[in-house]
Amino acid sequence: MSRSGRPTADKPLPPLYAMTHGGLEAIAADEITRDLGGDVKKTARGLVVFRVAELTEQILSLRTTEDVFLLAWGSDSLTYTAEDLDTIRHWTARKPDWPHLFKLHHKIRPKTKGKPTYHIVCQMQGEHGYRRADAREAFIDGLAGQIPRGWHYSNENAWLELWLTIHSNTAVCGVRLSDRTMRHRTYKLDHVAASLRPTVAAAMVRLAGIGPGMTVLDPFCGAGTILAETLVVARQRRAGGAVRVLGGDIDPNAVFVTAQNLVHVGPADLARWDATALPLERASVDRIITNPPFGKQLSSPDAIEPLYTAAAAEWDRVLKPGGRAVLLVMEQDILKRVLQARRWSATRQMRVRLLGQPCVVSVWNKPPERS
Ligand SMILES: C[S@@+](CC[C@H](N)C(=O)[O-])C[C@H]1O[C@@H](n2cnc3c(N)ncnc32)[C@H](O)[C@@H]1O
Repeated sequence: MSRSGRPTADKPLPPLYAMTHGGLEAIAADEITRDLGGDVKKTARGLVVFRVAELTEQILSLRTTEDVFLLAWGSDSLTYTAEDLDTIRHWTARKPDWPHLFKLHHKIRPKTKGKPTYHIVCQMQGEHGYRRADAREAFIDGLAGQIPRGWHYSNENAWLELWLTIHSNTAVCGVRLSDRTMRHRTYKLDHVAASLRPTVAAAMVRLAGIGPGMTVLDPFCGAGTILAETLVVARQRRAGGAVRVLGGDIDPNAVFVTAQNLVHVGPADLARWDATALPLERASVDRIITNPPFGKQLSSPDAIEPLYTAAAAEWDRVLKPGGRAVLLVMEQDILKRVLQARRWSATRQMRVRLLGQPCVVSVWNKPPERS
């Protein structure tokens, strides 16, 4: 491996894989392709396998992925029987060039002070004829002799992490390149109830297609996750005009928390407001990106329809003709009804689970002005 990160002739770069929030893998694949120049090989729920020509720290700047790994081995033909344990053991022992993977890892995550530490993670979802503990043991057996002498096992803040993730008949095994800041970000100092995962907010911002000079609104901003992700994208696309970011919430504490969270991210115009009576001019915003309260957050689930109806009237008033909205709700049927009544059209829908509940992210266009 050269210092530039280019693969040497005899050791090509292995594939990488990214974990995403389930349902948002197509958006992560798009970010990997367009922003990173990666070549996506395969997607499955919550997973994107891809290649890059060069391994650099840029990989850590992905915003719609929860974690990124060097692929040691992968399979989508697990049998759900105990035979899988032999597969895990043998493939872990024989398939990967572990020293090469470790070298690549060290390039992205240089060694910190003290003794080198490592950690082993085994995740398993779905019904299998063996326990997660059995899979983990098989994984550890397969790694025998691969971990350099002098490395110490650590449960916390280990320098290097080896992961095995089993989901139904798919298994991926690799070396983690990202750390917790990829999924949690560093700006999120404070939370409010039902605050979005930053990677989900980033996916919504990506779907909004923000361009230079646009005004972007989150009328139910909570802890400001969507506004923060918008500001990050706005910084990247500044050429041609700054993006104006507007946000507010009915809860004064949420507005305070948002202001705190945005301190190191960028400027936004924030206000305490009722999203059903916005203090904004008509046709003054280009994009609305938001997740209104879910029914179970309100005093009564029956309050959702009147809230969405009144909020949609305001979205329709403040959004420019031809403008776009990206909305995340649990009650998609109600949202559809109120937006279709305003002749808005849905261009995309993605099913995700949030707080254990099925939700939908949908992209809507307000019709252009009639001439
Ligand atoms: C699901 S949370 C938004 C979470 C936010 N996206 C985040 O990442 O933190 C919905 C927010 O809507 C706010 N809210 C409820 N009714 C409102 C109203 N009529 N006007 C403005 N905000 C309202 C709640 O206070 C809550 O913070």
